[in-house]
Amino acid sequence: MAKTALVTGILGQDGPYLADLLIKKGYRVFGLIRRYSNPNFSNLDYVGVTNEIDYVEGDMNDEASLLNLIRTLHPDEVYNLAAQSFVKTSFDQAKLTTEVNSLGPLYLLNAIKFFSPTTKFYQASTSEMFGLQHTNGYQDEQTPFHPRSPYGVSKVYAYWMTVNYRESYGLFTANGILFNHESPIRGIQFVTRKITDGVAKIKLGLAKELRLGNLDAKRDWGFAGDYVEAMYLMLQQKNPDDYVIGTGESHSVREFVEAAFKSIGIADWKKYVVIDPQFKRPAEVPNLKAKADKAKRNLNWKPKVSFEELVEMMVKADLKRYGSK
Ligand code: NAP
Ligand code: GDD
Repeated sequence: MAKTALVTGILGQDGPYLADLLIKKGYRVFGLIRRYSNPNFSNLDYVGVTNEIDYVEGDMNDEASLLNLIRTLHPDEVYNLAAQSFVKTSFDQAKLTTEVNSLGPLYLLNAIKFFSPTTKFYQASTSEMFGLQHTNGYQDEQTPFHPRSPYGVSKVYAYWMTVNYRESYGLFTANGILFNHESPIRGIQFVTRKITDGVAKIKLGLAKELRLGNLDAKRDWGFAGDYVEAMYLMLQQKNPDDYVIGTGESHSVREFVEAAFKSIGIADWKKYVVIDPQFKRPAEVPNLKAKADKAKRNLNWKPKVSFEELVEMMVKADLKRYGSK
């Protein structure tokens, strides 16, 4: 019989890439969607899996809907990708962020504990949990947490609950501590996609400027398609564990801007970029750089797409969206 997986956050960025991978591996994929008058399937359409998923309705804020799904589906694997994932919004909507990102995973863990204890659970943890902390300039599984946003704090809670349910009840639960990963279907608010979309518009004469916040922040950016493979691998191991996933390369927002403009043949990007304080945050995470040696060693995982290839892939996709040949 085909293995089954419940994927929350199926309409986001990672959900479609993960669904595609699982379907190719022969899984039956159940995708959790909230109730919408008009759900947006464009990311699933982009990846080409819209019609291959069984959609189930529920909400991370609604415990009963999650309990009922686990009770009735008994999935082999649950990938909890759903979140209020935009850091900036978490400063203004801290309670909502906490409910979705902290209590949502707790509801799923309890549902698994009570109704389906053999179900394996993946929690989408994040490098944002490290915040200000680093170990000689990088972050790995041993680096302590010092979150800098309500988003980061909410994810620390979910991280430890995931560990705790493993230690307390022997559940197969794993945290993927993923560093920033991007793609042509990255949400438009996130800085990479905002830049590539803006650059495409400027190239095509549809915009004159690109307004950004802190250009000095550094991130370890990889390709989402590579990272969902790591999620899958974590649940295929003999023993559950937690893994840092990233490229080991760090670039500033400024470098991303430079590379994106360069890819359309513009060297003097400063003419187009306006610094706008509304895009700055009350507290910033200055520098993220992964040391993903454990994933390389135990999962045999490494990223395939380079920084330059990622920037080019995203700019090209945005140019195509606006109709450029
Ligand atoms: P994303 O594009 O923002 O997708 C998040 C998904 O969560 C959306 O599909 C959204 O549904 C869903 N969601 C939000 N609130 C919900 C609720 N109350 N009930 C049910 N679903 C809800 O995020 P992503 O980039 O794919 O990231 C996936 C996960 O990895 C997130 O948990 C994120 O925090 C984490 N993460 C991401 C990165 C990264 O760089 N991308 C790095 C580390 C960790 P709607 O479509 O209905 O809004
Ligand atoms: N969004 C945004 N918009 N960010 C900007 C802008 C802007 O106009 N200008 C500068 N930045 C800076 C932010 O201050 C931050 O330092 C950096 O660009 C990256 O911002 P985002 O792309 O919004 O991502 P993030 O690093 O805050 O969070 C993402 O990665 C986390 C993993 O480290 C999200 O995907 C999180 O959900 C994820 O956990």
